[in-house]
Amino acid sequence: MQAVLLVGGLGTRLRPLTYSRPKPLLPLLNRPMISYLLDLLPDSVDEVIVPVSYMSRRMRDYFNSLHDGRNYVVVHEVEPLGTGGALGNVRDHLTDDFLVFNGDIVCSIDIKSLIDFHREKGGVGTISLWEVENPEAFGIVQLDDDDRITLFKEKPRGDEIVSHMANAGIYILNESVLDDILSEKVVSIERDVFPVQVRRGLYGFGFEGYWVDCGTTKNFLTASGTLMDYFGTNVSKEASIGKSVKEEHPLVIGQGSKVSGGHIGPRVCLGKDVDVRAASISESVIMDSTTIGRGVRVVSSIIGENCVIPDKCIVERSVIADDCELEKGDEIIDQKVGMR
Ligand code: GDD
Ligand code: MG
Repeated sequence: MQAVLLVGGLGTRLRPLTYSRPKPLLPLLNRPMISYLLDLLPDSVDEVIVPVSYMSRRMRDYFNSLHDGRNYVVVHEVEPLGTGGALGNVRDHLTDDFLVFNGDIVCSIDIKSLIDFHREKGGVGTISLWEVENPEAFGIVQLDDDDRITLFKEKPRGDEIVSHMANAGIYILNESVLDDILSEKVVSIERDVFPVQVRRGLYGFGFEGYWVDCGTTKNFLTASGTLMDYFGTNVSKEASIGKSVKEEHPLVIGQGSKVSGGHIGPRVCLGKDVDVRAASISESVIMDSTTIGRGVRVVSSIIGENCVIPDKCIVERSVIADDCELEKGDEIIDQKVGMR
């Protein structure tokens, strides 16, 4: 079976972090976000098609570095064609029923059960579903008693919010669904294809466990915390934490990182070779090779790679791009530093 990974978006809602890397390669608990989706693929998936546009060379290098026995076909999309256009653009590679994954999702869906459900229902497509509190940020569906989708509405507003069951961004589709997608045109599968294909038989598949969309800086931080709550603490054997450090779990600390003093946690992820002198850090992600000085406070923030946060700085509810150096005592509150 084949799977398509939709990873061609520009990741604008994750700027400034996505200026220097494509969204799917953002480190989530120190692994590229996209690797969590690859973990979900059953052995029956032997070919993965990846339409890429933004930072295609970085994406190609990543998929070429994988040696898991699957065939990865990376196809360059000259202009972003939208979620439907991207599928239309790789239609020559696709046969029969295939899986589709939005590339910014991390979840615990069992793909074998999704495939079995789809075959049992016999529709042209099955859409995975997750109940959400804020339907306006997603595509929503209405279902009948047989789990058949009777309505699909992308980003509903006001009285269009008729359900809290959202499209979880993972589908199994029959190749005939692509018939409506014109080649080389910008097409949204959610706005232009699903609402029409409802007539031909789309089904909704709910699942248990966890599901997070990591497509905004706020959601990325939530995803990091959710995964830590789910999988627990993971401190590399090659990290060092001083005896005086007050730890609050869960924590993820990468290889070569050093915490000399202060308070760390809960839900803090340090990348590789992060140097924390004596700081207080909670609910945050600090990426590789960043240095955090004495008396620094970091709360609910993401700090990119190779940054220097000198003594007595305060960083709260903020995002700092890679390679930034703050001044001693800076207060960064509700800001995105390094936006262009
Ligand atoms: N190749 C390619 N080309 N991929 C694209 C393009 C494009 O032009 N545009 C978006 N993508 C990829 C993104 O990289 C992302 O992985 C996926 O398609 C979905 O796009 P988003 O921009 O992240 O959409 P969203 O989060 O607003 O909404 C989507 O996901 C929700 C679940 O998280 C929709 O599918 C909603 O219906 C859904 O509820
Ligand atoms: Mg998204």
